[in-house]
Amino acid sequence: MHPAHDQVRAIIWREDALELLDQRQLPGILAYRRLESAAEVAQAIRDMVVRGAPAIGIAAAYGVVLAARARYAESVDGWQALIAADLATLAAARPTAVNLFWALRRMEGVIAEQRSHPVERLLAEAQAIHAEDIAANQRMGKLGAALLTERGAVLTHCNTGSLATGGYGTALGVIRQGYAAGRIERVYADETRPWLQGARLTAWELVQDGIPVTLLADAAAAALMRQGGIRWVIVGADRIAANGDVANKIGTYHLAVAARYHRVRFMVVAPTATIDMSIASGADIPIEQRAAEELLTLGGQPVAAADAQAWNPSFDVTPATLVDALVTERGVALAPDAAKMARLMAGAA
Ligand code: MRU
Repeated sequence: MHPAHDQVRAIIWREDALELLDQRQLPGILAYRRLESAAEVAQAIRDMVVRGAPAIGIAAAYGVVLAARARYAESVDGWQALIAADLATLAAARPTAVNLFWALRRMEGVIAEQRSHPVERLLAEAQAIHAEDIAANQRMGKLGAALLTERGAVLTHCNTGSLATGGYGTALGVIRQGYAAGRIERVYADETRPWLQGARLTAWELVQDGIPVTLLADAAAAALMRQGGIRWVIVGADRIAANGDVANKIGTYHLAVAARYHRVRFMVVAPTATIDMSIASGADIPIEQRAAEELLTLGGQPVAAADAQAWNPSFDVTPATLVDALVTERGVALAPDAAKMARLMAGAA
């Protein structure tokens, strides 16, 4: 890990409550919100205070700790039955990132075996999920950076950095290590409409790290690839199916199509917590549809013709055939397919 890099933490457990950096206000305002109940955590996930697949899972795990504290105070004998409602509230926050359900399942395992005084044990589990995520990111950073054999520029989409994870980042972790190793000379970042995670968050993280970053409108990506110089597109994922299909921020799929056409390689970086072996292909991944207002307005101001409708899927699915490398903390699958995914996951704990 590079000490000058990766300073920000979006998720902090402090004095018996969860503090989330309000990512809706970045980069202008750096403010943490203090949350004391599972319902508040679910709302924060839905409202994009915290976002990014691993970060959503970690926040939800801490949400379970808050729920256990309240339910145990309510009923020492009945807390395990009562907490089911809180788990359901957290699970309903957002549908696509499987890390949310993965983290809740892990917390449920602890709930099932914990008869009394659950808070300390559940907090330890949430903190383990958090710490393991950072360690996985650092490992993936190494594995992904090793694939960057030719020095050049890379293109990324959305925000996959410290803000989207427990810390350090998935695709941005590879970019951090690739830059430190001298293999990346510049990062191009899609602005990522409509939430502008690229413009507001990725550019902010990279500027803080002193890594040269150039923003582009999402629609400019194919033209940029045509100019040459982009060696890799490097992105994260919200859910990866058993055949290697990848759901990620809307706009990822057209990057993959354009990358293949222009002979630019396409790398997906995600921990195994993002892999959902129960889903055969990307066709079965639930894709979140968000409110039309997110497209029809900008900064609260209307930008579209009154009465126009909007189609606003938050994610799309990139077929595995367009993925050159899938980097996980367990290893790399080149040109992933169902057999390689099964092998990768068979090695998983
Ligand atoms: O809607 P968001 O901001 O939660 O979407 C985030 C993404 O699509 C990221 O690329 C993905 O979660 C990977 S983050 C390490």
